Amino acid sequence: RIPLLIDTDPGVDDALALLMAFADTRHELLGLTIAAGNVGLRHTVANALKLCEVAGVDVPVYAGCPVPLVHPAEDAAYVHGNDGFGDTGYEPAAARAEDEHAALAIIRIAREQAGKLLLVTLGPLTNLALALRLDPDLPSRVGRLVIMGGAVTGQGNTSIPAEFNIAFDPEAADVVFRAFPRAEVVDWEAVVRHGFQHQDFDRWLQAGDGRGRFYEAISRYTRDWSKGRRGGLFHSADALAMAVALQPDGVRRAEERYLAVELEGRLSRGATLVDWQRRTGRPENAWILLEYDQARFEAQVRAALGA
Ligand code: BDR
Ligand code: CA
Repeated sequence: RIPLLIDTDPGVDDALALLMAFADTRHELLGLTIAAGNVGLRHTVANALKLCEVAGVDVPVYAGCPVPLVHPAEDAAYVHGNDGFGDTGYEPAAARAEDEHAALAIIRIAREQAGKLLLVTLGPLTNLALALRLDPDLPSRVGRLVIMGGAVTGQGNTSIPAEFNIAFDPEAADVVFRAFPRAEVVDWEAVVRHGFQHQDFDRWLQAGDGRGRFYEAISRYTRDWSKGRRGGLFHSADALAMAVALQPDGVRRAEERYLAVELEGRLSRGATLVDWQRRTGRPENAWILLEYDQARFEAQVRAALGA
């Protein structure tokens, strides 16, 4: 089985992605490293632990950086609820996070897996950037890096051009994209092309088992928030990234290009600039998902919910 490590800031769509990883049998999930992002670290750690408990999964959870590398950032509680899981008032999990810091866990686990690790990031890239500063050889020990982040033609969800995970910690994203020779990018614009009809998604939640019921509860706030938006479709950014990570043979179209992160700019901080025209001559560092098999994506999501 392929060793898998997930860096995440749960988060409603993170939760669906994690349920997909839990349900997958071709990968061995070695840990969850937790970022701040959608909400503060205290909540994202608690949410990760709770989700593991609900799904009956025993996997170590490592708390990471509570703040971005350089500048403070705003969270996304308006999408995910104040606790990041729709403010259901769930009973906290019995388990606790490990003592080891997330950045150190990333370094250690990558070493132990010596080039075989599938690393998936579903949140701001703070932990991974810190790990890279501590261990610059890290990229040589990672087999695949899949990143949910960016907006590859300037249509973001946080500012005009920027997507949330990059906008939350642009310096961290800059460190990561400079360091890795090839990151697989599932950007916000790809997410928008891979929505589900709300009525279908609601039906799968009803048909699901305990995981589906828990997900129905924690996603209600976000689903209600999104129903009047985005053409009546339900989008799950992190779930699409996880689909690509777990079943890359479901990819229908992708392009490789050079990608850089804008750190300044009056309106464009956090934008991901893609050299579509190959003007710079710089080496391609991003494999960019354009199209994934929607039926495959649906099957993966339904399996994750037990539907
Ligand atoms: C990304 O931002 C977060 O709010 C989501 O969890 C996802 O990782 C989408 O832009
Ligand atoms: Ca996320």
